Amino acid sequence: MLNLLAISGSLRAASTNSALVAALARNAPESCRVAIHEGLGLLPIFNPDDEGERTPSEASRLIDAVTAADGVIISCPEYAHGVPGGLKNALDWLVSRDAAVDKPAILVHASPRSLHARAALAEIMRTMSFALHDGELEIGLLGKRPAEVEAVLGGQANVMAMHDALSAFADFIRAR
Ligand SMILES: Cc1cc2nc3c(=O)[nH]c(=O)nc-3n(C[C@H](O)[C@H](O)[C@H](O)COP(=O)(O)O)c2cc1C
Repeated sequence: MLNLLAISGSLRAASTNSALVAALARNAPESCRVAIHEGLGLLPIFNPDDEGERTPSEASRLIDAVTAADGVIISCPEYAHGVPGGLKNALDWLVSRDAAVDKPAILVHASPRSLHARAALAEIMRTMSFALHDGELEIGLLGKRPAEVEAVLGGQANVMAMHDALSAFADFIRAR
């Protein structure tokens, strides 16, 4: 059994990225368990002075969750052609640790746009030594209302796409 940790980069209550990671958790292959990490909004802004013994508890919770996971799934919106501050802040708490080093990761996308944020996020995560799987998944949920989002995510083709993307990610993890 592989334990995967999913993180949405959006704090919005009706977030399409959060809906996508929730759907991935529901549609994971039997060999994978997906836990969703909440609480990016509770993290203090990263300060290198607050590492080591001074690490805030919410940052430790994130670091421990990433360390324990066999792989990480990230779904993230784009704000002003960049990675939202909340997710970048969370990643910053992981930089000077071992948690991200060689940790398999996959990016999934709820918007067909967000090309700047995708590229920036991949660059950040490669710089942090995540082992980034190149089989990304995109399900277009941009601008959809919650009921529509759930209808799209419940469609047979998308259920299969989510299952297959995580199966391929699981193979990538096992092959390492
Ligand atoms: C402040 C703000 C800035 C945005 N900037 C961009 C942008 O530069 N490029 C883009 O493709 N979408 C942009 N968007 C749209 C969001 O990326 C898009 O709505 C995203 O899918 C929302 O994700 P969520 O539903 O998980 O919150 C922006 C949205 C907001 C609120």
